[in-house]
Amino acid sequence: MDNNILERIEQLKKEKNAVILAHYYVDGKVQQLADYVGDSYYLAKVAAKTEAENILFCGVSFMGESAKLLNPEKRVVMADRSADCPMAHMITPERIAEVRAEYDDLAVVAYVNSTAEIKAVSDVCVTSSNAVKVVSRIAAKNIFFVPDNNLGRYVAKQLPDKHFIFNDGYCHVHKDIAAADVQKAKELHPEALVLTHPECSMEVLEISDFVGSTSEIIDYATGSQKNTFIICTEMGVFFELMQKNPDKRFYSVGHRQFCPNMKKVTLEGLVKALETLEPEVLLPPEIMEKAVVPLQKMLELAE
Ligand code: 13P
Ligand code: SF4
Repeated sequence: MDNNILERIEQLKKEKNAVILAHYYVDGKVQQLADYVGDSYYLAKVAAKTEAENILFCGVSFMGESAKLLNPEKRVVMADRSADCPMAHMITPERIAEVRAEYDDLAVVAYVNSTAEIKAVSDVCVTSSNAVKVVSRIAAKNIFFVPDNNLGRYVAKQLPDKHFIFNDGYCHVHKDIAAADVQKAKELHPEALVLTHPECSMEVLEISDFVGSTSEIIDYATGSQKNTFIICTEMGVFFELMQKNPDKRFYSVGHRQFCPNMKKVTLEGLVKALETLEPEVLLPPEIMEKAVVPLQKMLELAE
């Protein structure tokens, strides 16, 4: 990596009293110089506790919004203004109001991959690493799980006593991982374990050896006695997998395990965001007041 950029970033971090948070799906070069790298749950917890004046977020917009909601006194800056998760927009407040009108005993569970506007009309948030635990601790019998259909179905399978209403949102990166391609990869590498993110389809989950969030996939491979793995999630995780396990082998199932939004975050963009402390994440106060409630509930219930 270019030493000038590294030095410039270190200098700017001190000058601006800033901390850099990065998700495992951003480019390895960015992960390498972040102060904290992790899955959505870990990054939300770090954002809630940091004492730095400025939080620079290398990820997509819902992550920056969560950081702002959990730590409203801080300035949250996105490394790229346009990095957004399409799935976060695949549910509307109107649809939530419709389902609320149909059921008395209902909890609206919002995957963190949702907008602040959606969180503001939800009861509790979840991430892929705590969804089963959090939903199991909710009293309501009926669960409207938004926006991700695949994660909702995965959670529902673990909690047969609840009644789920699903939404048809999806992550195009995980949805495009086809069970037939996973089978082919298994034939090519019969010794490999298949490690999968729950945003993948049920057909893929059913032929997997382990299902978990990005951090859980990395921890599982790192702790395993096996040394070959087929990875069914976005390719950014390969950076940490290989850093932690230089002697193990990791295979993808195709060329499309690529989130174009996460990959918008570049070192150059990061330097510019640190220099200018822009674009800042700003949310209407009335949305902030409501949207933080389900996020805080998630932090309590996931303990
Ligand atoms: P996790 O890091 O929580 O597994 O999230 C996956 C994801 O799609 C984030 O955009
Ligand atoms: Fe959204 Fe999927 Fe990209 Fe995650 S990987 S940010 S869920 S599009």
